Amino acid sequence: MKFDKPVEGDFKDALTIVGKAIPRIDGPAKTTGTAKYAYERHDVSGPQLVGYPVTSSIARGRIVSIDTSRATSAPGVVTVLTTLEHLPLPKTSYHTATLFGGDQVEHYHQAIAVVVAKSFEEARSAANLVSVTYEKADGDFDLRKALEKGSDEDREVVSSAGDFETAYAAADVKLDAVYTTPGQSHAMMEPHASIAEWEGERLTLWTSNQMIKWNVDALALALDMPAENIRVDSPYIGGGFGSKLFLRADGVLAALAARKTGKPVKVMLPRPIIANNTTHRAATIQTIRIGATRAGRITALYHEGLSGNLPGGDPEDATAQTPKFYAMDTHLVVRRLATVHLPEGNAMRAPGETSGLMALEIAMDEMAEKLGMDPVEFRVLNDTQTAPHPPNKPFSRRNYTQCLRTGAEKFGWADRNPAPGSRREGQWLIGHGMAGAYRGGPITASGARAKLLQNGRIRIETDMTDIGTGSYTIIAQTAAEMMGVPMSQVEVNLGDSSHPASAGSGGQWGASSSTAGALAACLALQRAIAERIEEPYESISFREGQVHFANSSLPLTRIAQAGELQADGALEVGDFRKKVVVSTFAAHFVEVGVNAATGETRVRRMLAVCDAGRILNPMTARSQVIGAMTMGVGAALMEELAPDTRHGFFANHDLAGYEVPVHADIPEQEVIFIDDLDPYASPMQAKGVGELGLCGVSAAVANAVYNATGVRVRDYPVTLSKLL
Ligand code: MOS
Repeated sequence: MKFDKPVEGDFKDALTIVGKAIPRIDGPAKTTGTAKYAYERHDVSGPQLVGYPVTSSIARGRIVSIDTSRATSAPGVVTVLTTLEHLPLPKTSYHTATLFGGDQVEHYHQAIAVVVAKSFEEARSAANLVSVTYEKADGDFDLRKALEKGSDEDREVVSSAGDFETAYAAADVKLDAVYTTPGQSHAMMEPHASIAEWEGERLTLWTSNQMIKWNVDALALALDMPAENIRVDSPYIGGGFGSKLFLRADGVLAALAARKTGKPVKVMLPRPIIANNTTHRAATIQTIRIGATRAGRITALYHEGLSGNLPGGDPEDATAQTPKFYAMDTHLVVRRLATVHLPEGNAMRAPGETSGLMALEIAMDEMAEKLGMDPVEFRVLNDTQTAPHPPNKPFSRRNYTQCLRTGAEKFGWADRNPAPGSRREGQWLIGHGMAGAYRGGPITASGARAKLLQNGRIRIETDMTDIGTGSYTIIAQTAAEMMGVPMSQVEVNLGDSSHPASAGSGGQWGASSSTAGALAACLALQRAIAERIEEPYESISFREGQVHFANSSLPLTRIAQAGELQADGALEVGDFRKKVVVSTFAAHFVEVGVNAATGETRVRRMLAVCDAGRILNPMTARSQVIGAMTMGVGAALMEELAPDTRHGFFANHDLAGYEVPVHADIPEQEVIFIDDLDPYASPMQAKGVGELGLCGVSAAVANAVYNATGVRVRDYPVTLSKLL
């Protein structure tokens, strides 16, 4: 199915299931503990051995030797596999650090061995007996110092128009400020885990991964084997947030250990090594200069995003939203990437925009205050229907002003006192803040198979994943709608690489892409059904479990009796979309109380208004957004990977030291979706909300804290010591 022109029409009267608030169909399995996550797959044949990873205790250098003799003779141990037995595994284009193999240590807690034993306890115990001799090398672990080493030449101009310096010098009102965001850890609930089993040359990996096709291809490269001989299965995923986009050490160690022992082997990455062994959202230092007319129109904007990564890694692009968010006559957007030898920085939920808006949306608040303008009005005034960069490209749909206005009204923004520190309830200083949000609305090719089973039920099979987002449910809704059957007649099988390849769960493209893939498969199945009943496809329709045609109908269950029918379909995306910018927008409103004595911040009320085209299921979409708002509170108030800049590792590498919000931290949350359809977004006219929901939240919290206290914190997280 080629998506090669805008999809007009609203289908609103026709749709009875898509767009409805339907609880997750995988909910009962998850809440009763019967959904099997990677580490608890017992459908693997025979007893499983357990691998426990041994990781580097230096950040950089060379491994001289690994003494495994004590570990090998420990009780229950079957084998110890070390990095020195393997060449460095090739890297994919998606990640930077070597997962395993060779004698070079690129970052702290890099996997350097795996102890394989009959039980978890025996493997873990023996892992402590592996003794490693290192030749340590120096590294750069301090982002600021690493940046000083660079030169102006490694500044990359992301976007520019006009002469910023001149326009800024001439501006009536100016802001020049530096903001910092710390490294953040995904801190998903389910750790990385895999079970590997070989049958001859064929490998099966039960794992927890967002992008099945990427994982198969990465395994094929790493293990130097044909992708056809690899099956990856990941039906349930306990959170990802980008940490599970890529093959990680658990999958590699399990596969290598299973090959060596000839038995199934399971490996989990223990929580305390995840922060340093895997990836994280890298810290940023951002300079923002805004110049405006007295009336509040932005005439000059400069945004510089600095970050660091391992050699060959990508920047954390905090400037991502800036060329597209606000109208601005003249601008200069630059970024710089320094080499730091901390663990790899890589994608975490809305990479780029999350960090960028944490800074930009405080800057907008500061600017509004300098102008004596309401922060909502300042944003409305600088809204635009065409992107500053690429110049004059229209947005497919952009309802940012509507988000701002709706939010202000529902939140009661008019009652806010703009004077900081002016409202007090007992010992609590009360503040109100808001921020805007921007995130891209990408879509990507996605395939699926639709089946009419012999019992008359419909089944959709695709390698799409559900990372807690609701994929199972929205795909089932799409199939039920298309095939004219109730939800109870639809089954959805996800996460298996033996199914057609899908978009996967990433970049908030999953919902719009994978439902379009399911739609394509259902259209193909409709054709197959027409063929079986020998009726012209154009004359048949599907409703109430029946196929209707010229003056008659047949139940699907009857048609199915002649044998199962199946058809593949796929979404293919044409170039027409390049004529426009497809994005999602939001406005966030937050009320906080800050304790006047202790500086403790309590979030009291949150509202998000989101503009993301058709909302496929308001219940699962709302869950995505409130989860994201929760993450935004974490980023605003507590989350911070603290680098030990002497030894090059994140010191707070578990959930005791790396704090995330708990239920008691999260107040009333309200989510409003703008009722809109985006003809360019997808055949479903839908865009994603999972990442949008996080963008801008932290700045809204920080702005509310400023309104409460009069203390402007530009370095996240906004902890109490910065307020007192
Ligand atoms: Mo996302 S950071 O592409 O899971």
